[in-house]
Amino acid sequence: MLSRDALLDALARVAPASAPGQNVVSLGWVEGLAWRAENGQMTVNVSLGVPPDLGPSLEPLCREAEAALAAVPGVDRARVVLTAQRPPAAPAPTTPRGPIALPGIRRIVGVASGKGGVGKSTTAVNLAIALRDLGLSVAMLDADIYGPSLPRLLGVAGTRPASGSGRLKPVVAHDLSVMSIGFLVPEEDPVVWRGPMVAGALEQLLRDVDWGEHDVLVIDMPPGTGDAHLTLCQKVALDGVAIVSTPQDIALLDARKGLAMFQKMGVRVLGFIENMSYYLCPACGHRDDIFSTGGARRAAADLGTPFLGALPLDIQVREGADAGIPVGVSAPTGPHAHAYAEIARQIWAALNGEDGARAD
Ligand SMILES: Nc1ncnc2c1ncn2[C@@H]1O[C@H](COP(=O)(O)OP(=O)(O)O)[C@@H](O)[C@H]1O
Ligand SMILES: [Mg+2]
Repeated sequence: MLSRDALLDALARVAPASAPGQNVVSLGWVEGLAWRAENGQMTVNVSLGVPPDLGPSLEPLCREAEAALAAVPGVDRARVVLTAQRPPAAPAPTTPRGPIALPGIRRIVGVASGKGGVGKSTTAVNLAIALRDLGLSVAMLDADIYGPSLPRLLGVAGTRPASGSGRLKPVVAHDLSVMSIGFLVPEEDPVVWRGPMVAGALEQLLRDVDWGEHDVLVIDMPPGTGDAHLTLCQKVALDGVAIVSTPQDIALLDARKGLAMFQKMGVRVLGFIENMSYYLCPACGHRDDIFSTGGARRAAADLGTPFLGALPLDIQVREGADAGIPVGVSAPTGPHAHAYAEIARQIWAALNGEDGARAD
């Protein structure tokens, strides 16, 4: 079966001479990618959005990309066309990676996971609180367009963001400035959107929001590897992502895929976080490694990626999530807040170049 991943892999080997160390994927040039059988031949169509002044010189690159795609098993023919990139709407001196400028935001970190249900949103929220408790001003974007959960996790479901001069104001919850599609679409509405609509909605949530000035924006990314990731990696100057996984092999397999995707996109992976790593009995303090703990630590070591920490499976964490009061808020001096703070400290240090290894 032909996959988007396999095609992007092939494209990631095509590098323009004008951008050393980059490739057509990391440069954000891949605007369209589709494949279908034409007269019994599996044909891949790609459009590359390139800077208008480079256009004519890139014809050989197109042929190179076609050859790379045609070499992917299952592909019979490939057609690559160039389109001129639209110039960015505003000058973006602080965002060399992508055209969405967030001038008031110093650092942007994504929290990602290979699959859903591993506790990514819960972890993202508690890390945001821990960053806040380091004295930082923190904003949060819910980029999980299909399953927004920040309004509920932060106790502000049903709130409507205020607007002024055509831009939305983030909702403030526990001192975090938060934006989510969940504020704009009723949470119970199934959001059935095609890829381009997801990209459009995400862009709007970033562009049409008056974010203000913040030390760090924490993005709760959707699970897996899809269109939203492409948009975020290409258009937003992500300083790094942390990947949340549970210790089980299956979740780790997905986490590895996530790691590979970010590496391909040239986004720095700050490390793995193991959630629901072990169970501490609240009555006797006994520790149970229900899911055979340590999988994420081993995978991180195998893959040469930092391991940021392990978080227990704990009823207080879940109750806090359900009640809209993160455990770091209800018990700021407790063991959970401490565990999140340790990870937040490492993330902030890595974002400021003090630690961490580049993924690529
Ligand atoms: N460390 C934890 N201990 C206990 N429950 C957790 C923990 N992390 C997440 N959960 C619970 O697991 C479920 C899924 O978490 P969620 O953050 O929504 O996952 P995701 O964003 O990955 O889909 C929620 O019910 C949440 O309360
Ligand atoms: Mg979630």
